[in-house]
Amino acid sequence: MKAIVVLDQNAGTAGMRLTTHPDPSPAINDVLVAVHASGYVPTEVDWPSTWTTRAGKDRSPSVLGHEVAGVVTALGYGTTGLSLGQRVFGLADWHRDGTLAQYVAIESRNLAPLPGDVDFTVGASLPISGLTAWQGLFVHGRLEAGQSLLAHGAAGAVGTMVTQLAREAGAHVIGTGRGGDRDKALDYGAHEFVDLENDSLHDVGDVDLVFDVIGGDIQRQSAALVRAGGTLVSVTGPVEARPSDGLAIDFVVEADRAQLNEIVQRVRDGRLRTNIGIVASLDDAVPALNPTERRQGKTVIRVLP
Ligand SMILES: NC(=O)c1ccc[n+]([C@@H]2O[C@H](COP(=O)([O-])OP(=O)(O)OC[C@H]3O[C@@H](n4cnc5c(N)ncnc54)[C@H](OP(=O)(O)O)[C@@H]3O)[C@@H](O)[C@H]2O)c1
Repeated sequence: MKAIVVLDQNAGTAGMRLTTHPDPSPAINDVLVAVHASGYVPTEVDWPSTWTTRAGKDRSPSVLGHEVAGVVTALGYGTTGLSLGQRVFGLADWHRDGTLAQYVAIESRNLAPLPGDVDFTVGASLPISGLTAWQGLFVHGRLEAGQSLLAHGAAGAVGTMVTQLAREAGAHVIGTGRGGDRDKALDYGAHEFVDLENDSLHDVGDVDLVFDVIGGDIQRQSAALVRAGGTLVSVTGPVEARPSDGLAIDFVVEADRAQLNEIVQRVRDGRLRTNIGIVASLDDAVPALNPTERRQGKTVIRVLP
């Protein structure tokens, strides 16, 4: 099959190649998915899981991409819950070959049915940003109606999902980002916007929840804003700063069929808008995944037109 692989950790994203790669075969409880569309997170080449199996063995050349929308073409031994020919979307295992390929083998439980009225491009844009937002807000952050949220990177892939889900849940959303992102963040539902390059985070006052996608000094300043009993959640790695009287939680997004169902239902009924930037074919994927200009939204690769 055709796939986008990386060969050498030191080469970074510049080491991406479109090449031929052995077809995957579905293991116990897996499905084999014919990939129609694939999503990619720009930091993937830096993740240890891109380079090793769970047992710590080198698994390069590795196929990139962890979000998929496609059609089930084979079932592994004992696989239940999904059937041949079914449209699906979801999250591929971090330690296995990914979704920037014509086929991917994924555990059935990591996928959800993709309704017929939701396009494959949209389906592939949702798993990581949607599940990360859902889990950060409701699982780890325990957000409730009436609470205040500081949503960093509010115009980004995760941030636009965070902003919309939090607003729907009845929170007061203070989005942040670069100055040029103000209109986009407000358009996706932020009540207020803080320009991190020109405004002072100190002026925000106390908040119940911080959703951090930036880390470093922004995370440190934000921890000080969490009111007693509140929470800082971060997806940038181990938290470096803790609220004085609250929780600090870093997490890695997990596959969850029920949450994927909730997310895609919101897309169908208009409560959730996707934030898709570049859409390119597999043949054009390498330059699309290495843009020379600032990315705007999620890059989705259409493996099948
Ligand atoms: N742990 C997990 O499970 C998990 C899951 C999903 C994502 N992540 C991580 O979360 C981060 C965000 O992901 P994403 O897909 O939402 O990325 P994204 O689409 O690039 O969004 C991030 C947004 O934050 C902005 N931003 C970053 N640093 C900033 C700064 N210092 N000041 C102002 N704005 C800043 C970015 O602007 P610029 O583009 O101009 O920098 C962008 O608008 C990435 O590091 C990703 O690896 C982790």
